Amino acid sequence: MKSVQLNNNVLRDGHQSLAATRMRTEQMLPVCEQLDNWGFGALETWGGATIDSGLRFLDEFPFDRLDALKKACPKTPHMMLLRGQNIVQYAHFPDDVVQAFIKTSADHGMNIFRIFDALNDTRNMQCAIAACKAVGAKAHGTICFTSSPVHSAAKFIAMGVELEKMGCDAIVLKDMAGLIAPMETFKIIDGLKQVLKVPVWIHTHDTAGLGASAYMSAIDAGVDAIDLSISPFANGTGQPDTMRMLAMLKGHARCPKVTEAQLNTLKDIRHYLNGVYAQLSDFTGHKNEVIDTDTLEYQVPGGMLSNFRTQLKEQKMEDQFEDVFREIPVVREALGWIPLVTPTSQIVGMQAFLNVKFGRWKQISPQAADIALGYYGRTPAAVSTEVQQLASKQAGKDPITCRPVDSSDAKHKHMDDLRKELKAKNMPSDDEHCVIHAMFPQQLEAHFKNKNKPVSVSVPVGAATTATPTSHGPVKRYALNVNGKRIEVGVEEIV
Ligand code: CO
Repeated sequence: MKSVQLNNNVLRDGHQSLAATRMRTEQMLPVCEQLDNWGFGALETWGGATIDSGLRFLDEFPFDRLDALKKACPKTPHMMLLRGQNIVQYAHFPDDVVQAFIKTSADHGMNIFRIFDALNDTRNMQCAIAACKAVGAKAHGTICFTSSPVHSAAKFIAMGVELEKMGCDAIVLKDMAGLIAPMETFKIIDGLKQVLKVPVWIHTHDTAGLGASAYMSAIDAGVDAIDLSISPFANGTGQPDTMRMLAMLKGHARCPKVTEAQLNTLKDIRHYLNGVYAQLSDFTGHKNEVIDTDTLEYQVPGGMLSNFRTQLKEQKMEDQFEDVFREIPVVREALGWIPLVTPTSQIVGMQAFLNVKFGRWKQISPQAADIALGYYGRTPAAVSTEVQQLASKQAGKDPITCRPVDSSDAKHKHMDDLRKELKAKNMPSDDEHCVIHAMFPQQLEAHFKNKNKPVSVSVPVGAATTATPTSHGPVKRYALNVNGKRIEVGVEEIV
């Protein structure tokens, strides 16, 4: 029996989930050679929130990190998380920007693009998948797992079939919230394995303590690869630890053969990472390290729970925690039972909060209105007609049914426009800068002008930033004008 491939996500999801994406490139480099030689099938090194966070908080130009990690880990394929047409942001970017981002990243050595869409709308993944194929990189079509009355194993399997037909080199079941139970995992993975020719991979989190056992079921069902991390950037809201997973697999027919030397290397890496974890103590926390079964009760990602406890406290609404969380399924149903992953997790959470604070649908956030009106894509079920009408009235625009980026409403900046803007600012205007400028214009300019204070690695990294310590990804503040009053809600990345 073929042994299961182990991937390692410590350099991306590991610190994104447990240390607010604050690990610096310099802190990664000392373990790169060991990670590269260990025998992992792939190393997740880039993408997700690391690009935003690296630029915003660590003053690192994203492609410099990719170059450094690629040089330090030349043997193992590098993997990144890409939000389809949103690239690594929240807005929809035109096809030429998506294509340029993928080509440039592949030129810098990125091998595997794990492509997802928050609504599981494959139209938003099409351009990115084709762009990967065009440059010879691997396109991994990703299914966002969620549970709702309209989701079923059969639907996820059908999506896998569709993604394979679109040319994907592998299909990934992505459980960003760590909510998938072992039996359900078996059902979906077994179903995918029966109908697909391409490999099937799985990604989950140990937030509710289910991750490692879900992997066991996935392995029994024939999954080709699983994502792991390394403690202390593992377990809890992160991926299961590699050493722990190997111990669970002992005696299993699909357990990879691992030498004593490899186990010792894992211990060495963990020892080093303990030091980094301590340096990042402003961004780590007990809540992320422990198993949180509340997420099972509310069926929402752990990051949403911890974030909302803080938000409600700020708004002096602590006693309404239960009300807000009971409102989440109401909002999800009205918005067509969308999965909860960045950015939909934030949008749904915020709308639940607004519904409780001001009355149901009295204030619809611009982002929730956009979901209701089709500007994020096709929702898994139909949006409530009543909510769509209210959203249309409040937002002052009509619903669309086309691929969002093709909407005539969209005011796109193409590569030529981006290049002109950078030239006008006397900034570098190569493709690398254009694609980053498309997504993070202010941060790029601040980085270029070196306005951010240089951060020395010898001091705890957190000390140099002003961000609120958070439990999951970087906190973003959404400001809303509600009846003339400014309401700010902080949201976290769900990955
Ligand atoms: Co993840």
